[in-house]
Amino acid sequence: MNYSTGFWNRIAKRYAKKPVADETSYQFKLDCIRERLTPEMKVLEFGCGTGSTALLLAPLVNDYQAIDFSSAMLAIAEQKLAECPCPQLHFSQTPVEAYLHEKNDLDAVIGMSVLHLLNDPESAIQHVFNSLKSGGYFFSSTACIEESMSWFKYIAPLGGALGLLPKLHIFTQQKLQSYLTDAGFVIEYKWVAHNNKISCFIVATKP
Ligand SMILES: C[S@@+](CC[C@H](N)C(=O)[O-])C[C@H]1O[C@@H](n2cnc3c(N)ncnc32)[C@H](O)[C@@H]1O
Repeated sequence: MNYSTGFWNRIAKRYAKKPVADETSYQFKLDCIRERLTPEMKVLEFGCGTGSTALLLAPLVNDYQAIDFSSAMLAIAEQKLAECPCPQLHFSQTPVEAYLHEKNDLDAVIGMSVLHLLNDPESAIQHVFNSLKSGGYFFSSTACIEESMSWFKYIAPLGGALGLLPKLHIFTQQKLQSYLTDAGFVIEYKWVAHNNKISCFIVATKP
């Protein structure tokens, strides 16, 4: 499979320095996740980037695997982990498509700002579903660009070809929800910030 790691490796240092765009919304999403995590859980976060979310959530669970395909993003994540050790947190460089298995042994999967970047989000969602235990959670925060920036689909391919943008999937919230329910998930909670209609946070559960 063809993975566009180059873009993320190039911007990793800048990404790490950039403050979270909307701290209040980010903290709200973290709280929604935190209140569902318990100390015996085994968690996977994919597209973990520089590890900020992983470092905050891993202390709450038994095992937290955080993966990303970008070596530069992970180098920063590993540096942060060395400064603030957490024995249950492990970073590894793996594309999510190669990592997800069908073992039904995960209690929760987290994907923050990443589903719309995958080659095949629909198939990844099905794999997330298959990798979860019954009762497991999928927490995702995803840019649904078609919602209020549908014009973006005309410039995205050019931005991608010039290396200015990563490869993007442009879909609506409705489409994202149908990917989830078609995979077998039940949508327990959906939240869209009033000041950012593009980013859709969903808590989905495997029945
Ligand atoms: C927008 S960043 C989000 C990083 C982090 N989750 C956050 O919220 O700050 C997207 C991340 O997903 C990673 N990524 C994109 N496609 C991936 C894939 N197929 N497998 C693993 N990581 C991927 C990129 O390297 C990048 O670190």
